[in-house]
Parts: sequence; structure tokens; C-alpha cells
Amino acid sequence: MEIDANTRAIGESHSKLILLGEHAVVYGKPAIAMPFPLKVRCIVEETIGHVMLDSIIYTGVVDHMPREMQGIAACMKETLNYLGKPLENLSISIDSCIPLGRGLGSSAAVAIAMVRALFAFYGKELSKEELFSLVQISETYAHGNPSGIDMVSEASDCPVWFEKGKEVLPLKPTAPLFIAVADTGRMADTRTAVDNVKKRYAANPEKVEQSLEKIDDMANKAKAALLKGDIQCIGELLNGNQQELVKLGVSDEGLNGLVQRALKAGALGAKLTGGGMGGCMLALGKNMEHAKLIAKELREYGASNSWYFSTDSDMLYGVYE
Ligand code: MEV
Repeated sequence: MEIDANTRAIGESHSKLILLGEHAVVYGKPAIAMPFPLKVRCIVEETIGHVMLDSIIYTGVVDHMPREMQGIAACMKETLNYLGKPLENLSISIDSCIPLGRGLGSSAAVAIAMVRALFAFYGKELSKEELFSLVQISETYAHGNPSGIDMVSEASDCPVWFEKGKEVLPLKPTAPLFIAVADTGRMADTRTAVDNVKKRYAANPEKVEQSLEKIDDMANKAKAALLKGDIQCIGELLNGNQQELVKLGVSDEGLNGLVQRALKAGALGAKLTGGGMGGCMLALGKNMEHAKLIAKELREYGASNSWYFSTDSDMLYGVYE
């Protein structure tokens, strides 16, 4: 966070990947998430008159923000209210590299950057508790009843072990993971995906509970494997998790195709990441060159975008960038 004589302040955040445990985390099971170095930056500046927003989706006065930005609007209003400041004389600009609605946590990342920038602008310290309770306002609009894993991993600089309502544990892998990420190019509707799992649960609780138990077990094994640096084992667990996500009905043809293509390219494991039903998948490579090759093959196969990175660095590489 930066403060410049109270006339301009910057707040930043980054995207996230769920390594294992999405959906199960909504039912109180553990999940592992990590920062994904696609960044968002929010700049708050002093101006005169109505609060103006400038973003890729909408530019104009805050009162006319479109429906898909209502979460951000509510979060902004509540943050200003919490700070005891009026909804005026501000210009807020959001510059995000995170593709929208792809399971990469764009909504939470934008809200985090904005809350950070507003607190910085008014020279106020921001605690994690304050940040999470304000960002949760926006997340509730976006996802209905979010577990909170997106905002927690996006406010963290390292992988985290997350269980709803429990203390978040930072996880420091002993060996870096080399990860390729590919985008199906289709919007992932997390809210619908979460609702579908809920309906399945209501219709067939034993079957869904079995999947959730398996994912719980795999997340625990992955945590141990991460701490031991057993990359091979993590790959197998990713594959196992994907099978359960397929059973939960949140994967789809596009995601399955990319997962199969990654495995054909020698990935140690591959699965969807985030809510599914469109959006992104990830694959584990043996090293950086291998992650690059997988990302390249996924792009050639039909991914609208693909990236590769290593968890021990803040650098992200795009295949054709
Ligand atoms: C979305 O990134 C992850 C889900 O598990 C939903 C949630 O945890 O709120 C699908």
C-alpha cells in the first residue's frame, strides 16, 4: 500500500488458484489455495463531486454501476461508511489483469485492492479481520455463500491451508511446484456450480458425502506431500481430486479435454481450478520447461489463454506474450 499526501493511494492484490479442495471447502472440508501472479491494482484519487469509477467493465458515476458490479459498489459504500467518509470527491480506477469469471478469484481480488486503496487514501491501518469482513460483502453478491477461500488466498503471499471458520495456515512447500494454467475461454459460473453441488447433495447425500470425504483425505495427503516436497504424489492427488469433481458434476467437456491433453503432455496431474463449469484448469509439470511445454500444448489444443509459473517466484509467463 502507498499513500501520497492523501491525494492518491494505491491498493493491490493478486489472483488465486485452488490446488485441491474446491467445493468440498464449502462443506467445511480443507482446501489448499495459492497466489497466482495475475495482478490487480486500484488507484484512489481526490476529485470534486460524485464518486467516479474507471474500470474495464464500466466507467462513470458509482450510482449507475452495472448489475455485475453491485458487489463492488456495496463493498465500496460499506468501506467508506466504516471509515466515516462520504461517498463523494473520489475517483477510483481499477486496472486488472485477471480475466473475469474464470475461477481465478477476480471479484475478491478487485475488492481487496479497492479496500486497501481506500484505507490507504484515508491513512488508516487495515487489519486482516477488517479486510475480510468488507471484502466478504462483495463476495456474497458474487457467489451467494462463499467459503472465503478466494479472499484469504488473495491476501496471502504463500500457499494456504484453509478450513472455513478456522485459523488459516500458511504452507511453505519444500520444493517449488511448476504449474501450467489454461483458460477454457468460457465464463465459469461459480454460483451455479455451488448450487448444483447443493442440489446433488440434497438428492443423494451419501454419494456426495463420499466424494467430499475423499477430497478431504486427498487435501490432507497433499498437505503432507507439499511439506515433504513429494511432487509425484501431489500430481496423483490432483488427478484423484479431478475424478471427484467430475462426480460432483462441476467439470465439463472443455475442462475434461484440457485435463486429458495436459496428461498426454506428461503432466504429473491435472484438474479444474475454482468453481468449474467453464473457467480454468491447472496441470503440474516436472520442471519449468515442462510446465511451459504443457501450457503451449494446451493453447494449441484450444485454450483461450495459458500461463506457466513456479511457486517460488512472483513471475508469470504467458504462452504467446
Ligand atoms: C471458488 O473459487 C471456490 C468454491 O469452492 C466456492 C467457495 O469456496 O466459496 C467453488
